[in-house]
Amino acid sequence: MTWELHLLLLLGLGLGSQEALPPPCESQIYCQGELLHQVQMAKLYQDDKQFVDMPLTTTPDQVLQSFSKLAVAYNYSIPREQLQEFVKQHFQAMGQELQPWIPEDWKDSPQFLQKISDAKLRVWAEQLHQIWKNLGKKMKPEVLSHPERFSLIYSKHPFIVPGGRFVEFYYWDSYWVMEGLLLSEMASTVKGMLQNFLDLVNTYRHIPNGGRVYYLQRSQPPLLTLMMNLYVTHTKNNTFLQENIKTLALELDFWTLERTVPVRSGGKSYILNRYYVPYGGPRPESYSKDVEVADTLPEEDRETLWAELKAGAESGWDFSSRWFVGGPNPNLLSSIRTSKMVPVDLNAFLCQAEELMSNFYSKLGNETEATKFRNLRAQRLAAMEAILWDEQKGAWFDYDLETGKKNLEFYPSNLTPLWAGCFSDPSVADKALKYLEDSKILTYQHGIPTSLQNTGQQWDFPNAWAPLQDLVIRGLAKSASSRTQEVAFQLAQNWIKTNFDVYSEKSAMYEKYDISNGGRPGGGGEYEVQEGFGWTNGVALMLLDRYGDRLTSGTKLALLGPHCLVAALLLSLLPSFLPW
Ligand SMILES: *[C@@H]1O[C@H](CO)[C@@H](O)[C@H](O)[C@H]1NC(C)=O
Ligand SMILES: *[C@@H]1O[C@H](CO)[C@@H](O)[C@H](O)[C@H]1NC(C)=O
Ligand SMILES: *[C@@H]1O[C@H](CO)[C@@H](O)[C@H](O)[C@H]1NC(C)=O
Repeated sequence: MTWELHLLLLLGLGLGSQEALPPPCESQIYCQGELLHQVQMAKLYQDDKQFVDMPLTTTPDQVLQSFSKLAVAYNYSIPREQLQEFVKQHFQAMGQELQPWIPEDWKDSPQFLQKISDAKLRVWAEQLHQIWKNLGKKMKPEVLSHPERFSLIYSKHPFIVPGGRFVEFYYWDSYWVMEGLLLSEMASTVKGMLQNFLDLVNTYRHIPNGGRVYYLQRSQPPLLTLMMNLYVTHTKNNTFLQENIKTLALELDFWTLERTVPVRSGGKSYILNRYYVPYGGPRPESYSKDVEVADTLPEEDRETLWAELKAGAESGWDFSSRWFVGGPNPNLLSSIRTSKMVPVDLNAFLCQAEELMSNFYSKLGNETEATKFRNLRAQRLAAMEAILWDEQKGAWFDYDLETGKKNLEFYPSNLTPLWAGCFSDPSVADKALKYLEDSKILTYQHGIPTSLQNTGQQWDFPNAWAPLQDLVIRGLAKSASSRTQEVAFQLAQNWIKTNFDVYSEKSAMYEKYDISNGGRPGGGGEYEVQEGFGWTNGVALMLLDRYGDRLTSGTKLALLGPHCLVAALLLSLLPSFLPW
């Protein structure tokens, strides 16, 4: 089904409207309309996100009425100064609705710090643990009493944000934040964040990309069930699980009803998931950029472009050549065709969610539901093996629905099924190692690159992202082979060294790193690199916890060309008291 047709269905032509939900955001200020258009196209602010984050000083109706008067007075071409004055009168400065929050369960010296033997790394880990106190936010009561005056979506419980321009919560970031928080022994902060997400599912049937109304048209990689698993494994609180398991199922229903696609291969039909957003229009928080990209295309292609950009944002990889391949110019954003790809990582995340749901229901004594999810996982596993797995290359690849071919470019996401435990052949971890060697990925000493294409997009070379390091490292670590496990450790060592060196120089953690020229804060994409940073800190804490007895802040150990692997293995087998 084309997205246009889907849109018509959603708009309520009545066909199949059982599942149709109201349009996710009807705000004529924060999501669409003339006011948004005029202000964003006048570029009153350097970052379009600033305007849509500003609370109103009065009711939306009053704001719209006085805007309408202004527009008529100037025959719809309002001079910049008048627009500026209008915004000043009707909007408050951004960030007013959020207050700093020091998590109540934060405490000095969580246990895991004791596992870190390198003294400098241990001091650094203590500082990372401190940073949670800067990233905590809670909402002012006005957001609850006057929700129509804010783009912020009200959440009852305080939460941890990524940092920088990202002052609200983000969906998939929160998974790695929670991994770190649990190491910091902050289970009640995690529980509050989980409760916020569960509340969102109960209200909207899905979790938006982030905590603002303009993010409601799209989700982000579905990790809620995995988050619940982290919490339940840590606390053994099965009551909380029991109370909320139906909501977890409701979120997975959204991905089944709104984001699946049939794929035929070898005479069989399979069902897999994709990122897909059935709404056009520029993204409110990147409005002028989206309009400018669209201006390079014929008018009839613009709505489709915008829907594909939103689907790209839903994937978490906004943006990447991963979504441009097969387009008219695979280096350009205007070639984006996210919804035409069946992504490896999305299907791996859902595969793991289905397995966890099956385990949860078993634990709660509901065998009917446990069986249902076990079957869903088995079907997905078969589909992934048939459509995404490539035996010759030893990895999974995104599948292009239009060409019927796999995209054989390198992305760390190609190994997500390992991380997610979504495979049946135990030798895949060793095949994946060979795949990394063949793709020359182990020659990068400062982190695993996001792709091998340098397009200027932030989810491409030379940027490296913390969650993608985790996908590969914990994936390889599942192997029974000590050689593969050793490579996992070396990759962890490389990444920790990059994070640590940049921190030593800049006293900050970043959302992404540029791994060319020795490792530094990342660049490219739509905005300046941001400090903070939730998921980077979470992944660093996980690696420090897992490999704390061996990681070092000092000498470069990691020369990981394939020919060096044997040497690396031998070195690692030397007794650890040797002075290097
Ligand atoms: C208003 O603008 C439109 C086109 O932008 C133009 O056709 C019209 O004549 C203008 N009206 C006045 C009163 O200036
Ligand atoms: C477990 O969750 C239940 C339900 O939310 C709550 O009442 C209880 O206090 C929780 N127990 C712990 C130890 O957090
Ligand atoms: C199992 O879960 C389903 C879905 O939540 C529910 O309808 C059913 O009543 C449950 N069965 C048992 C035995 O608890």
